[in-house]
Amino acid sequence: MVMATAEQIKMLIQSHFDKDDDRFKTVVLQLAAYESKKGHTSLAREIRSIIDKSKSSGKVIHLNKDFGDMIASSISENRLSELVVEDDIKARVERILKEFRQQDKLKKHGMNNRRKILLAGPPGTGKTMTASILAGELHLPLCTIMVDKLVTKFMGETSAKLRQIFETIAETQAVYLFDEFDAIGSERSMDSDVGEMRRVLNSFLQFIEQDQSLSLIVAATNNLRLIDQALFRRFDDVLHYRLPKESEIEKLIKNRLSGFIDSKLELKEVVKKCIFLSHAEIARACDDAIKEAILNDKETVDKKLLYLMIAERNSVYQRGE
Ligand SMILES: Nc1ncnc2c1ncn2[C@@H]1O[C@H](COP(=O)(O)OP(=O)(O)OP(=O)(O)O)[C@@H](O)[C@H]1O
Ligand SMILES: [Mg+2]
Repeated sequence: MVMATAEQIKMLIQSHFDKDDDRFKTVVLQLAAYESKKGHTSLAREIRSIIDKSKSSGKVIHLNKDFGDMIASSISENRLSELVVEDDIKARVERILKEFRQQDKLKKHGMNNRRKILLAGPPGTGKTMTASILAGELHLPLCTIMVDKLVTKFMGETSAKLRQIFETIAETQAVYLFDEFDAIGSERSMDSDVGEMRRVLNSFLQFIEQDQSLSLIVAATNNLRLIDQALFRRFDDVLHYRLPKESEIEKLIKNRLSGFIDSKLELKEVVKKCIFLSHAEIARACDDAIKEAILNDKETVDKKLLYLMIAERNSVYQRGE
């Protein structure tokens, strides 16, 4: 039986690289059966439930192999409750979900749900995470297109590749995230090859305008100033992400430390130390503090430890000052 699992692991790896999902699932189910025979019933149940969930999340997206690591398709488990943002942004995300869920109602009156969304803001403020939450909440697959890689790899034929992507968008309903989107929209990147970037931008504008699919199209950028103005009106909504305010910092720390938070921990001063940090950096400082606590056999994170990890994050920005 031990050999059987070694074989199964090899088969899992092989089927992953062959992109053979059916075979992959068969092996996973065999593994579940094997674990359940060994008496590991809850593990077996968990494994089966992962498979069931991925089934209900719809189809896996098949894209041309040329795209390699420029496009990744995944299933998201992210939920809106994880997102810590200002109320106005949260309300906008909720509205996208609500309109999507009730699109039939809107269509009866000749209206469409908002489905072309631009997310802009500094690094680490939750743009990529939001795309993943939209997919998770709507039980749609998430397909991420790394625009910067696409543009560099396919110089000269980017427009043709974009066309292929928009064909897939029309065929397979999913959340499509155009990440690092400024690689297309920026005026700066046009210095390199003005003609080519102009063409790519124009074809993107045309494709996004023509798109009438059932998919959600999300573009994310942290370089809004560089985005061509003509782009804005092609989107149904533009969400501006910001660095967290004090109340959000506090919420983020509480969420992130969850079980490791010391009830006596006074967060007011800690929060002040995070004022220039992004959500991602604060989350990382919390995770680092948790790890340190675990390694030192402590049950909670104390103030000193948290300060230390935050100072470490802050130090990244103090170079040359
Ligand atoms: N608003 C937020 N609420 C809760 N967690 C967040 C938030 N923003 C970021 N995080 C945490 O930081 C991680 C990285 O954030 P994310 O990748 O969404 O940032 P981003 O805005 O896409 O940054 P970039 O512009 O660099 O791509 C997330 O996976 C999450 O753990
Ligand atoms: Mg991102």
